[in-house]
Amino acid sequence: MDHFKADDKVAKLIHANHYLLPVINRFGIRLGFKDKTVAQVCTEKNIDSNFFLAIINTYTNEDYFPEQDLLKFSPELLIDYLRKTHRYYFEYFFPEVEHRLNKVLNSCQGNCGDLQLINTFYQKYKVELTKHLEEEENRVFPYILALTGCLRTGGQMPEQFSNYYIQSREPEHTMVDQKIYDLKNILIKYLEANYDDNLCNTFLFAIFQFERDLVDHARIEDKILVPKVVEIEKMVRHG
Ligand SMILES: [Fe+2]
Ligand SMILES: [Fe+2]
Repeated sequence: MDHFKADDKVAKLIHANHYLLPVINRFGIRLGFKDKTVAQVCTEKNIDSNFFLAIINTYTNEDYFPEQDLLKFSPELLIDYLRKTHRYYFEYFFPEVEHRLNKVLNSCQGNCGDLQLINTFYQKYKVELTKHLEEEENRVFPYILALTGCLRTGGQMPEQFSNYYIQSREPEHTMVDQKIYDLKNILIKYLEANYDDNLCNTFLFAIFQFERDLVDHARIEDKILVPKVVEIEKMVRHG
């Protein structure tokens, strides 16, 4: 697939991949694009259009991963985007998935033990993912921002981050990615047919979308943010 460029119309992006809607919302871009191009909208919203294009192309095409381009952007810009994505999970995805799951549970007739197990699996997954996101919000991102500040001012790292290094602290993504795949797989392979088909499909569609968003998010953290921070660690007096 060809990747999107600055002179493409934003409406074209959405026709080509409507899953981009929440991604562009994180940049403050909302429906009603008229015939505006990416470059025009980015100028209006004061967004770095190269960063915007790197993110939407990464999200649209798994084979497109402009590591060299993305490495040019500041950690602050990346963290701002990642934080908005976390907020989207907390404020939209968790409630939406639960709403859809409850509808499936309420549609169940007869023995609903397997659906209850899926509910328990989901609740455990939510606790684990929340822990992961909170660790990033409360420790990893503040550390990176402090480190970037020191790089700029030539200062020394605050006491609370002494002996703290990104590679030992950025939490593992494999587990959170694997568990959401397992949840999908249990539904697809083992669900007893005593629920409403359409409600269950709607729930499953939400999980597919959530998984896709999470994998993309983790890829940006692992392949862009972490290597960038490792480079900065070498330049800042630390530990
Ligand atoms: Fe994250
Ligand atoms: Fe993460």
